[in-house]
Amino acid sequence: MRRRCAWIAAMIPERLDVHLHDGTPVVARPLTPADRDYVADGYRLLSPEARYQRFWVRQGEIIGDAMLDRLLSGRLPEHAIWTVFDPTREGFPGLGAASFWRSENDPLEAEFSVTVMDADQGRGVATLLLSILWLVAFRCGIETLTGYTMPENSRALRWMRDTGAAGEWDGYNAVFRWTLGDLNAIPATPAGADLAGRLAELSPVML
Ligand SMILES: CC(C)(COP(=O)(O)OP(=O)(O)OC[C@H]1O[C@@H](n2cnc3c(N)ncnc32)[C@H](O)[C@@H]1OP(=O)(O)O)[C@@H](O)C(=O)NCCC(=O)NCCS
Repeated sequence: MRRRCAWIAAMIPERLDVHLHDGTPVVARPLTPADRDYVADGYRLLSPEARYQRFWVRQGEIIGDAMLDRLLSGRLPEHAIWTVFDPTREGFPGLGAASFWRSENDPLEAEFSVTVMDADQGRGVATLLLSILWLVAFRCGIETLTGYTMPENSRALRWMRDTGAAGEWDGYNAVFRWTLGDLNAIPATPAGADLAGRLAELSPVML
């Protein structure tokens, strides 16, 4: 599997130049172990609420070394992490990042997480990142991406549902699953149409 995915990884672009719907040119790329400062800056600049919703941590603006290792040291086919940034922006250029970890128990499934900087939410960044990781995961033979969200995170719940994830309650969190091979499950919501459009746009360069 690893050798096959090393070959697949070599086929996946290291940089995608795309536009947000408001016309802003942005770049998407995988994060690497050299991006520790970038990720630490992004973590610090998140609102406490967004930091809690993604990292489940209430206190502190400094990301720990263990979390940085976990985010940046993994490799395909077990792990992928991509960011979207605006190369023209002064200061911190990142708009958001998303990752997946393949399940140790079920190689057909991976856990998906995403965070978008507060001021950039509602611009289609999470949907763009989902489409990229969807295609990377699909190439690696993953069939399902699973997202875990706190029940009070209504924005994430709505976004997951509106992009076609099937939700259930596991007694503690909301669990949402996107079935990567079933494009018919993507609904005709604005976010669903956005996702379907991104998948159509990026499939020719990613698959
Ligand atoms: C949940 C979260 C990831 C969504 O990110 P986002 O970048 O705002 O998501 P998108 O912009 O792709 O889509 C969100 C909404 O904006 C809308 N939208 C996207 N682009 C738009 C545009 N150009 N104009 C108007 N609306 C737009 C989408 O239709 C969608 O609406 P809906 O949810 O009502 O269907 C973000 O709020 C976040 O990072 N929250 C904190 C961390 C978190 O909760 N992560 C999830 C758990 S892992």
